[in-house]
Amino acid sequence: MKNYKDLGFKVVDTKGNYISYYKDGKWDDGKIQKDDTITISAFSTAIHYGQQAFEGLKAYRTKSGKIQVFRIEDNARRLQSSCDKILMPRVPIEKFIDAVKQVIKVNEELIPPYGHGASLYIRPYVIGVGRNLGVKPAPEYLFGVLCSPVGSYFGGGLRPVNFMVTDRDRAAPNGTGDVKVGGNYAASMLSHQEAVDKGYADCIYLDPLTHTKIDEVGAANFFGITKDNKFLTPESKSILPSITKKSLIYLAKNNLGMEVELRDAYINELDQFKEAGACGTAAVITPIGRIDYHDKKHVFYSETEVGPITRKLYDTLIGIQFGDIEAPEGWITIIK
Ligand code: PLP
Ligand code: COI
Repeated sequence: MKNYKDLGFKVVDTKGNYISYYKDGKWDDGKIQKDDTITISAFSTAIHYGQQAFEGLKAYRTKSGKIQVFRIEDNARRLQSSCDKILMPRVPIEKFIDAVKQVIKVNEELIPPYGHGASLYIRPYVIGVGRNLGVKPAPEYLFGVLCSPVGSYFGGGLRPVNFMVTDRDRAAPNGTGDVKVGGNYAASMLSHQEAVDKGYADCIYLDPLTHTKIDEVGAANFFGITKDNKFLTPESKSILPSITKKSLIYLAKNNLGMEVELRDAYINELDQFKEAGACGTAAVITPIGRIDYHDKKHVFYSETEVGPITRKLYDTLIGIQFGDIEAPEGWITIIK
């Protein structure tokens, strides 16, 4: 049997992916193709002007062998808001769900077995295609869904990792930080690499206007557990509204009986937290051991041990995702 712990987050050959074209004001029916290559005009807006958006969600295998996805409608809706913001046509919710289901079904044998913390990462995307020269929306679009079996994003499952605060920004105060478009990720590559080169898992972005508050943790949202046991997470116009974070807010309140505070997390006030973490589809919950900000180093619970509340949140979240804990209504879609 494969060593699922070492799967990491990378491309694996699959049995097929979905592809659908938008032309003359409508989407075609779409189809599964075997090869993950596409042929598009080199004049496409996706190539020159970054007119593209994507999503990330996972399919999980439960103990009884069923396959299920987590909060798929939320991802479908968020893709629509990304499309709205950069003037691409929306993918209808039902079309999104149907495409994801088709990709899961054709790749069923690649979904890791229950019990390894691994899952099938699903990557829907929309790109502007067709021949175009000026800065304006593309004449045609392509919606695709790719997938790959994955393990842990930051490496090693539930163990604390360290982050450094970057002085760079990934998004502007009134820009596109709140949607999942490629430009935000292009803007994050240099700061990410600088952090990795210095031995950190990733970098933390401060709010782009004042550089005093935590915005995001690489490709994940930030949360902290205050000394008086509150779940705190920042609200900001320049961060991606994380579906995992939205779920943790609910679970902290309803399953763990915690108070939740949606407010700023000032980088000079990290002492208020006894635990902290990064959350996202790829990151799941990654405990933050230490944050380095210029020459200041702040350790939360421990650099090697996971705090008890972070662990409880993690166990509850993955318990729901893998079907061991009953999910709130509408969170889980059984595929098979
Ligand atoms: N923030 C960024 C920049 C991301 O890329 C992601 C990943 O999707 C997240 C946060 C977490 O969002 P979600 O929990 O919906 O995956
Ligand atoms: C996700 O968590 O789905 C992401 O998109 C993170 C990253 C791999 C871009």
